[in-house]
Amino acid sequence: MSDDRWSKYYDVTGGREPRDLFVRGFESVDPLLPKIGADIGFGAGNEVLFLLNQGWKAIAIDAENEAGERLRSKVGEEANLELIISKYENVSFPSTSLLHAGYAIPFCHPDHFEEVWQRLSNSISTGGIFCGQLFGVNDAWSDNESMTFHSRDQVTSLLSGFEILELEEEEGTKGTATGGDKYWHIFHIMARKL
Ligand SMILES: C[S@@+](CC[C@H](N)C(=O)[O-])C[C@H]1O[C@@H](n2cnc3c(N)ncnc32)[C@H](O)[C@@H]1O
Repeated sequence: MSDDRWSKYYDVTGGREPRDLFVRGFESVDPLLPKIGADIGFGAGNEVLFLLNQGWKAIAIDAENEAGERLRSKVGEEANLELIISKYENVSFPSTSLLHAGYAIPFCHPDHFEEVWQRLSNSISTGGIFCGQLFGVNDAWSDNESMTFHSRDQVTSLLSGFEILELEEEEGTKGTATGGDKYWHIFHIMARKL
């Protein structure tokens, strides 16, 4: 997706409520764990704002400068925000109790996905929560060779170090955030690190 498309995506999604899956993930974190959450590919930053409003430290990672500028304009020099503008391929993920990756890590090139996934899952504390989406092999974008798609078996294999709390597979035609329909194949995942 080009930068212009992300800009439009941020326009359309900025100000929406935090995603339900993310909120359920947040509510599933063991209250004894440190109040530190990460949002990988945070986009318009709605989930980051939620974490900050709950008094958590939020680690916000996105490749797009514009995403960072928009988030800063909303929160200013917020002490609880660690803003990292970088591709997740190049980041060492800080340790977290909650890691959200909403519609974000399928944009990782397949050559890097395994390594990114290992670092990402290693950064989640034992008992911590991963929540987010992976895309399935039947998705209309699956001919995009710079993105990564998974079968259900591959998804469960990626989650071998986790207790799966939710794994919903969604397939069908519906709208995109920026307009037009596409065929979606999505895995909605919430899992607790073992
Ligand atoms: C579809 S948006 C999702 C935004 C938000 N998480 C949500 O649920 O609405 C994907 C985001 O991932 C970011 N992104 C894509 N590839 C990335 C990469 N390799 N490293 C870091 N961020 C990336 C994009 O800049 C964009 O903000």
